[in-house]
Amino acid sequence: MKNKVINSPIRWAGSKKKILNEMLNFFDKTSKIYVEPFLGSGVVLINLINNINEFSFEEIYVNDINSNIINFYELIKDDYEYVEKQIKKIIKKYNDFSSEELKEEFFYEIRLKYNKIDKSNKIKSIYFYFLMKAGYNGVYRENKKGEFNVPFGRKEKINFDSEGLKFIAQKLKKVNFFNYDYIEFFNILQKRNILSDAFIYFDPPYIPEEKVISEKQELYTNKNFDHNEFVNFIKKINTNKILISMSESKKADNIYKDFKKYKVDEIIRTINPKKIIKSTEILYSNYKIKKVEIK
Ligand SMILES: C[S@@+](CC[C@H](N)C(=O)[O-])C[C@H]1O[C@@H](n2cnc3c(N)ncnc32)[C@H](O)[C@@H]1O
Repeated sequence: MKNKVINSPIRWAGSKKKILNEMLNFFDKTSKIYVEPFLGSGVVLINLINNINEFSFEEIYVNDINSNIINFYELIKDDYEYVEKQIKKIIKKYNDFSSEELKEEFFYEIRLKYNKIDKSNKIKSIYFYFLMKAGYNGVYRENKKGEFNVPFGRKEKINFDSEGLKFIAQKLKKVNFFNYDYIEFFNILQKRNILSDAFIYFDPPYIPEEKVISEKQELYTNKNFDHNEFVNFIKKINTNKILISMSESKKADNIYKDFKKYKVDEIIRTINPKKIIKSTEILYSNYKIKKVEIK
């Protein structure tokens, strides 16, 4: 890539940041349409846009089932000044507390407010940003009631890169954001007839081991994610440009056995606040990739 990798404004455990340079080399250079159904922190999208001259994309459609992510991006796109002002305010308050106990108290106060307010309230996006920064390790996890339940991260100081966020906000002007389950998202794209020339990059929730399924899957969503159903679904999508990120495992190889496999690199994934694992990143695709190095 020509440009230096940019951080996502949303602190996110297991984000693709470390392997982005390598991964973008696998992205299709001819498609006019880019689709990313599992946006997460948005770090892949942001860096793709920052290097857009290397690609042919004219239209961009991204989605995530987590409304906080989508609402945050929509808000910085529509009302950057509000976001900057509110983030500065909340971070100053946090940083100004003289002891860890006071910071901790403030974190839980915001977490409580965040879980109570409706997602249509703009301040929820600010709380989301703050909780990801001040919470444990950038983990997003909800309990069965749908409440954010990540503990305090014991950060002494939180930094806010307002110039960086402004830069990203400006780059997002042409991005179309959606907040649906991926199946619904694809139904919408299908109806608009925009999938045939699309390059689709999938980074779905990773595959947990049998014995700890419920605990691990809480990380991204409180709904279970069925990889077999997902594979059956994507096989029916009418495009031959699909790329899927996965961490290497026998189970993944079995589920994705009809796809071609490429090794990317090692990445650290945080499973839950208590467990951190390392894994090798794999890309599966439904077409043979001619990897073109981006200088
Ligand atoms: C592995 S993360 C993506 C991480 C992202 N590539 C990054 O580097 O930050 C998977 C994302 O899929 C989303 N997700 C989970 N189930 C989903 C579903 N059924 N439909 C759409 N999005 C879903 C989660 O909210 C989460 O943000």
